[in-house]
Amino acid sequence: MGNSKEAKMILDPSFVLSKVDDRIYGSFIEHLGRAVYGGIYEPGHKTANEQGFRQDVLQMVRDLRVPIVRYPGGNFVSGYNWEDGVGPVAERPRRLDLAWHTTETNEFGTNEFFDWAKQADSEVMMAVNLGTRGIDAARNLVEYCNHKGGSRWSDLRIQHGYREPHNIKVWCLGNEMDGPWQIGHKTAYEYGRIANEAAKVMKWVDPTIELVTAGSSGSGMPTFPDWEATILEESYNNVDYVSLHSYYGNRDNDTANYLAQSLNMDNFIHTVVSTCDYVKAKKRSKKTINLSFDEWNVWFHSNEADKKIEPWSIAPPLLEDIYNLEDALVVGCLLITLLKHADRVKMASLAQLVNVIAPIMTTTGGDAWRQTIYYPFMHASVYGRGSVLQCPIQSPKYDSKDFTDVPYLESTAIWNEELGELTVFAVNRSESDHLALECDVRGFAGYRVVEHIVLTGDDKAASNTAEDPNRVTPSRGAGAVLDNGSLTVTLPKFSWNVLRLQK
Ligand code: AHR
Repeated sequence: MGNSKEAKMILDPSFVLSKVDDRIYGSFIEHLGRAVYGGIYEPGHKTANEQGFRQDVLQMVRDLRVPIVRYPGGNFVSGYNWEDGVGPVAERPRRLDLAWHTTETNEFGTNEFFDWAKQADSEVMMAVNLGTRGIDAARNLVEYCNHKGGSRWSDLRIQHGYREPHNIKVWCLGNEMDGPWQIGHKTAYEYGRIANEAAKVMKWVDPTIELVTAGSSGSGMPTFPDWEATILEESYNNVDYVSLHSYYGNRDNDTANYLAQSLNMDNFIHTVVSTCDYVKAKKRSKKTINLSFDEWNVWFHSNEADKKIEPWSIAPPLLEDIYNLEDALVVGCLLITLLKHADRVKMASLAQLVNVIAPIMTTTGGDAWRQTIYYPFMHASVYGRGSVLQCPIQSPKYDSKDFTDVPYLESTAIWNEELGELTVFAVNRSESDHLALECDVRGFAGYRVVEHIVLTGDDKAASNTAEDPNRVTPSRGAGAVLDNGSLTVTLPKFSWNVLRLQK
């Protein structure tokens, strides 16, 4: 069996942190690489429906139960004219996309995405362009999508075949405007002003919408967290959420340090919450700004390959990270971290969904397959609905290059009172030792163990590929025992675990 360490956890229904907003399991489709073209949309593919939507991909998305999908970018949105992507396809212009140095055909646009999202059982989170454009294009797009009719832009939608409004509820005010790489990069004050004015009139068109202001594009940005303080001072009353973006990678081939990077996410969230509450206090406001972690994932494998892409190609294979077991464990730790902050993180988007740093990959003209990171995301999305518990944890710890006191056990628990289900998500970060976990579940009288799902393996670099799509898949763990209010289970070394209890 190998070496073992011990950890303890207390689960009690009296200690609920917060209800989990289902939108924490959101994702993202950008006009980037093969996310749209050759990903969700491939007319002529053997599984494509009459609209060109690949059904193999749609089914995998449905299985992930993604409640909301951000669109159309990302960096792309900062140069996008939404009018290019609506109306007769033959009349839509080809444009240079300066964000990714590709050519955008505009064959697919807002209405196609709305239809696709509906078929995926998802809502749309729509981003507006505050890079090259501004208030006018933003309020027109809200009118086009959400106004019932009888005005210039809503009538145009009807003319385009959509009598009923799309009623898109969540809107992002631009994207990563703090980044010098962004088309239309701004200072915090410049962005705060335009975001506020755009927000104000977008809500005048449709007062029911919710707005996400663009926070820092990473906690390492030199302007973080002054950026958040300044933009919120300018827009506090008109916005509802502030966004966070963060990508992680094992650039130094240092697994212990890589697995600890969720501590960076944890710290990032703490700081943004504090900054929001600082502005709240300064404004003597009763309103709380919540968080939308609307870009998060592992992204580093494809960095070198992307430098070789021919500029101005149409839908080239950009950002096609192939994930391994190690990455799946990091994604598991990141999911647990988001859940631990469910009192303030109300939305999040795994970036992205198909082909571009994604859980789902396709071969153009061929099959679709699931990456390693698909599994922790699916487990969390399917079983992680309910209330997150505050769970005291006692775990042995280690120090790594950038972090101290990293617990070997990363874990949280979700209680779904309605369904009578209790689910523990747990990562054992140790590469050498199993973790003997003992959970005090005396508060959950009448519950029994129904399943222990494990994702692990001897090769941390093992990946799923088009040729070998099922190399890394979950299996059943054995030996979880609930006796007299105590749940004991062995978490294999280097593993993602889901322990499911039912009443
Ligand atoms: O998700 C890929 C890119 O990462 C997005 O376009 C951008 O917002 C971020 O920098």
